[in-house]
Amino acid sequence: MSEQKLSGEVYYPSFEHLGEPHVRERGELQREAENDYEGFWARHAEELDWFEPWEKVLDDSQAPFYKWFTGAKTNIVYNCVDRHVLTPRRNKLALIWEGEDGEFRSLSYFALKREVCKFANILKSLGVEKGDRVTLYMGRIPELVLGMLACARIGAIHSVVYGGFSVEALHERLEDSQSKVLIVADGAYQRGKIVPLKDIADEALQRAATVQSVLVVKRTGQEVNMEQGRDLWFHDLMMLPIATSQCNLEVMDAEDPLFMLYTSGTTGKPKAILHTHGGYMVGTYTTLKYVFDMQDQDRYWCAADPGWITGHSYIVYGPLLNGATSFMYEGAPTYPYPNRWWQMVERYGITILYTAPTAIRGLMRFGDAWAERHDLSTLRLLGSVGEPINPEAWKWYHRVIGRERCPIMDTWWQTETGMFMITPIPSDPLKPGSGGKPFPGLQMDIVNEEGKPVGADEEGYLIIKTPWPAMLRTIYGDPDRYVEQYWKRFEGMYMTGDSARRDADGYYWVIGRVDDVIKVSGYRLGTAEIESALVSHPAVSEAAAIGLPHDVKGNVIHAFVILKTGVEVHEHFEDELKRHVGHEMGPIAKPQAIEFVDSLPKTRSGKIMRRVLRARALGEDPGNLATLED
Ligand code: WT7
Repeated sequence: MSEQKLSGEVYYPSFEHLGEPHVRERGELQREAENDYEGFWARHAEELDWFEPWEKVLDDSQAPFYKWFTGAKTNIVYNCVDRHVLTPRRNKLALIWEGEDGEFRSLSYFALKREVCKFANILKSLGVEKGDRVTLYMGRIPELVLGMLACARIGAIHSVVYGGFSVEALHERLEDSQSKVLIVADGAYQRGKIVPLKDIADEALQRAATVQSVLVVKRTGQEVNMEQGRDLWFHDLMMLPIATSQCNLEVMDAEDPLFMLYTSGTTGKPKAILHTHGGYMVGTYTTLKYVFDMQDQDRYWCAADPGWITGHSYIVYGPLLNGATSFMYEGAPTYPYPNRWWQMVERYGITILYTAPTAIRGLMRFGDAWAERHDLSTLRLLGSVGEPINPEAWKWYHRVIGRERCPIMDTWWQTETGMFMITPIPSDPLKPGSGGKPFPGLQMDIVNEEGKPVGADEEGYLIIKTPWPAMLRTIYGDPDRYVEQYWKRFEGMYMTGDSARRDADGYYWVIGRVDDVIKVSGYRLGTAEIESALVSHPAVSEAAAIGLPHDVKGNVIHAFVILKTGVEVHEHFEDELKRHVGHEMGPIAKPQAIEFVDSLPKTRSGKIMRRVLRARALGEDPGNLATLED
């Protein structure tokens, strides 16, 4: 640790409660990674198993189409599951699960292997082969994790669609991925109610042509429609002799695709971010090991949803690669009471809790007593992700949940980065609201419009200068868009789409998105998708969506709508439109408010000036209107 005094409010770690972390100070990793970047990643890759070694750690000959560990053969599932079964870890719990209704399940590594193999055999019997796409649409239940691993085991590419999305969002993703199989749950529990996932899927399937089979997992048990010749009950197939507990693992090239995950971008349709077996494995393994200091005795809980990258990297792959025990909870944090989370921390002896600022702010509203009445002494590390955490929420989390002895790892990263990028490690001094510095070895910077570094405390574009192992490889089916979106704006640098500042101590302070992406409760939504959902209503001719600040959710969606001529607006029309967006996109995309207008402010080239709309909605001065057409 440097002797230099840090400015502002700083929290220092207490090793007394934390225990002995993998590294006692960041410098150990930092020096190694700076001296030999590729060697640093190779050393960590060597902690995992490979069927054949790599010829090259990093191949940048076709940049920005970087390749990692080229020539190597592996399968991430071997490292997540099989290799632990060969050690005394075989009887360690890999996954502990609690349903919203109180149901409990747990799987040892041994049981995990058995269940993944059975699942994989079922997929094979449905004709799924290496390279095929399989879409998964479920709530937070163990079958989602098993399904992802089953796909990866046989070399199929999984595409998980968040269970909070709805008909059109699912349809679009099924269509774009050309999925052969859909794995869906009958329903999902949310606040004691049932979200009818299978019904939603049926409607989406009417619009999607490529899906041959639908595998239905029973969770909520209500009556669902089963289409002859297409739909099959998962539990029926699991009883058949084909579902044996032995299933050969497909030997994958390090650069073979592992999964795609859709995320919202600046324009148009959501894009399928593609990740691979080799580099992604090394990146998630290494970052989780150091950032959350994974130790064998930990009970780790990432409260995200597997439907987002946080769940992929740090509920499923990262923890299993580390041989950890991962806890997953199905339902809402406040169901039936606002102490649900703290009750589970106490019941399962959770040692690491990783969640989002929006959840922290939501729970903070209920006051300290709900957490205070529970024994949270097992917690040793806390984490935050998804959006900037305001210092007030940080301090509450630190004081009331962490009891002033658990460091908070505020991790900045993206679907595209696959792994933590700006993050503290447990021994770092922390500043509330800052994620600290880039993970050792990564070179990042903050630049101005011309791509030149800005000075200390100045705001600019957050960019990444070094390739990293878990980086996205491309946008599935659209390599041009990959180059255009991330590598065109600033020559040779990856553009994150975020703005940030860096203080004189080198700590990064992420401000937010600079593009047309809105973070609602940490969920990433594109204005374009919300607008197209609005316009798909027969009465709407044009729409514009913007984000407005909100105390708990970070941002909420505010929409402006131009109706078709002759349309009469009735009293409940705003609600009808909100419901329509909910039905097409999902509840998270519902605008908080809709304003009916006669025109939208546009530039001469026809681009909506969201800045002007935002100023109007907030009652502020819109500023320079020189480019406004009308
Ligand atoms: C965007 C990426 C990767 C996990 C979940 C989100 C914002 C993420 C932080 C943080 C400030 C953050 C950024 C980023 N973001 N983590 N710790 N502090 N902002 O993944 O859906 O791809 O969203 O989330 O704006 O660009 P995602």
